[in-house]
Amino acid sequence: MTHRLDLEKIFGRKAPLHVDVGCGDGSFLCALAQRLPDKNFLGIERLLGRIRSSARKAAGLSNVRLLQMESSYAVRYLLPAESVETFYLLFPDPWPKRRHHRRRIVTPDFLNSVHTALNKNGLIYLATDHLDYFRKIKAIAGSNPRFTIGEVDAELPPSGFELVFRQKGAPIHWLALRKVSPVT
Ligand SMILES: C[S@@+](CC[C@H](N)C(=O)[O-])C[C@H]1O[C@@H](n2cnc3c(N)ncnc32)[C@H](O)[C@@H]1O
Repeated sequence: MTHRLDLEKIFGRKAPLHVDVGCGDGSFLCALAQRLPDKNFLGIERLLGRIRSSARKAAGLSNVRLLQMESSYAVRYLLPAESVETFYLLFPDPWPKRRHHRRRIVTPDFLNSVHTALNKNGLIYLATDHLDYFRKIKAIAGSNPRFTIGEVDAELPPSGFELVFRQKGAPIHWLALRKVSPVT
């Protein structure tokens, strides 16, 4: 049996939770956590080296926790239902070769898990430089009536990969999906 995370115990307080899926070197996670001290931030990343870089940046921040794990598993099995205010999925690996597309993290199942973990009207922000992946994500989201698709209107700090892509002059595609809660 899998136990869901006890977020109040892990953070030592009750506060809205923001989750950075595939947080990389943690620069986005920690910059946002510093800007929003009243929110809790969880970074999920599968590579140990990147978790270590994130941990160094998070050293002085009491509102950041890190989880080294496959993020689709963590979202589906470890986050309690309706526990997340905002997810960030910034520059997920695009797996450009067709035979590797099945490794992409955004699938209908993944979005369903995100929906379950989000609280009422919660959001997931997505960004990618990869147009084909962006179109696929939009199509998957568009066929899920439990989300509305919108623009990103938040002022977010740049992630490590965003800076790299910006320097290259690559176009960056953004999407914000809002959980639609059933009318009661
Ligand atoms: C292209 S990088 C983007 C990193 C960061 N979000 C940024 O924008 O700078 C993708 C990151 O997601 C991590 N990642 C990819 N798939 C993952 C998965 N299934 N679970 C956890 N981390 C994953 C990779 O190790 C890598 O650090």
